[in-house]
Amino acid sequence: MCGIVGYYGPQNPKDIIVNGLKCLEYRGYDSAGVAIFNKGEFKRVRAEGKLSVLQGKLESEEFDGHIGIGHTRWATHGAPVERNAHPHTVAGVSIVHNGIIENYMQLREDLGEGTKFESETDSELVAHYIAQELKSEPSLLSAVLKVLPKLHGAYSILVVSKDHPDEMVAFKNGPPLIVGVAAGAIIIASDIQAIMPHTKKAVYLDDLEVVQVKGESFKIFNSKGVPVDKAVTTVDWTTDQAQKDGYPHFMLKEIYEQPRAVAKAIAPHINTSTHEVALKDVGLPDAYWATVERVFIVACGTSFYAGSVGKYLIEELARVPVEIDVASEFRYRNPVVPKNSLAIIISQSGETADTLAALRQLKQMGVTCVSICNVKNSTIDRETNGHLYMNSGVEIGVASTKAFTSTLAILNLVALQMAKAKKVLTSENEHLYAKALLAAPAQMETVLACDKFFADAANTLKEYRGFLYMGRGVSYPIALEGALKMKELAYMHAEGYAAGEMKHGPLALIDKRMAVVMLAPSDSLYEKTLSNLEEAKARGGEIISVGTLGNERLKSLSKHYLTLPQANWTINPILEAIPLQLLAYHVASALGNDVDQPRNLAKSVTVE
Ligand code: AGP
Repeated sequence: MCGIVGYYGPQNPKDIIVNGLKCLEYRGYDSAGVAIFNKGEFKRVRAEGKLSVLQGKLESEEFDGHIGIGHTRWATHGAPVERNAHPHTVAGVSIVHNGIIENYMQLREDLGEGTKFESETDSELVAHYIAQELKSEPSLLSAVLKVLPKLHGAYSILVVSKDHPDEMVAFKNGPPLIVGVAAGAIIIASDIQAIMPHTKKAVYLDDLEVVQVKGESFKIFNSKGVPVDKAVTTVDWTTDQAQKDGYPHFMLKEIYEQPRAVAKAIAPHINTSTHEVALKDVGLPDAYWATVERVFIVACGTSFYAGSVGKYLIEELARVPVEIDVASEFRYRNPVVPKNSLAIIISQSGETADTLAALRQLKQMGVTCVSICNVKNSTIDRETNGHLYMNSGVEIGVASTKAFTSTLAILNLVALQMAKAKKVLTSENEHLYAKALLAAPAQMETVLACDKFFADAANTLKEYRGFLYMGRGVSYPIALEGALKMKELAYMHAEGYAAGEMKHGPLALIDKRMAVVMLAPSDSLYEKTLSNLEEAKARGGEIISVGTLGNERLKSLSKHYLTLPQANWTINPILEAIPLQLLAYHVASALGNDVDQPRNLAKSVTVE
């Protein structure tokens, strides 16, 4: 889950690599480093901590070469200290690595006791092996091809060598690696974001492919060294969204971008004159949806909670049974997937290792897989049979916000599409649900007003011992998501519960120091949720409720009452998510935490 970048071209590699690493810092920020050619060798500069520390160190550094590599780390093997920072250099060979070499113990042993390691990483041994091969191999490429079969695991690796200063080699198995083809220059990176400031022309490497850069040209080979013809794609994203635009954090900016993101997510699929729903450009025949007899939703983290709302939507609207799994469980539980099942794979990044592995397993079983991704052309997007897009724009904050609400909107549409195909949705209801979705962005705008409440209350709220989030029906996964946001941002104990489950144990946690966040919108379960709220209040819980405007009884029972506009039950989860995001954001800020880059986390989880 690190970010790697390599550059070969006429410009100063230092600036290009550092700017590339800035775009990749979301992938890990435990340490950073570069190796750039200077006076006949690759000069290495590394620093523990965030990229800014490395930038400080690099200020006084000059390089006279035109080739270099860089890395931003999320530690797997070895503590997040400078000696474990990449690049790792052995006998003039420098490498940067994203992923995990699973057989590294064996490979380390095979190198023999005489081999000196300067780090505790699994990555350094790759430099040892390549350096060893280079003693007899004529090129970096041929040395890499010798080492490749020895490596087991997930990796994307960039290599340079002082003895081959006109050559850079990159290869991958698992985590993404993209070759940017610019005028007179090649830039290779883990994410297209690092490439786009220089070119929109890119080649996405497939697993076990090796790219050799020589001067301004490049060649791609398979793992046996046979040349491979790959298409150069033109990327249709823009980079201009990745600025804070005056917000103190990307996360807050992204929370505020949600109404627009949801509008963009639904726009291609709803006819605004007729209010008809038809999923566009999915890549599957229209008739397909009627054939689906069971749905499997597979995802991780926030995407999993979005999928959990999808289960309620699809079952209620389309009457098709839905199973939902976290990808890390699905892939190892030997699932039974009946014929005519559709798998919906949800991933903002499109690169999450467990989700990708589950997708590959499903495809091997012959299951039709549709992805809901934010990053177009990501590995998951490329490998699915059908494609839906969150259309949220770049999400930088490690805590996912706008991708979540956009996914909820897309899942509404999937449920409606399937309900139509199954002929269990009247056109009157289709129009009603479509109108509800079209109204959602404006309603979301009004919910953003609770930002001020949480900003003011954060200093008091941060004193709570913990937070219990409760909801029923579609609000239950939102309670889980709210708790995840609080954990990852504020580092506080937070749990989400189905409100009806409280009396089966968690009620014992409640006292004056426990905040109870109750999701109680006006829906068919409102009265039941209210009873659960009474139970929590009777035990001394401090109630923060999120309910529909005008619910006086809810207000009277709550210490704080945040209101949502009156909305269809299908839209409530989208609206409820906003106050919970803002609650976690402000509590974390009041605690002085790094909101955009919470400790121990990374945006894109490309390792198991
Ligand atoms: C959410 O705030 C997270 N940081 C995390 O749970 C994330 O949703 C998860 O890692 C899945 O990522 P993906 O959507 O990119 O697959």
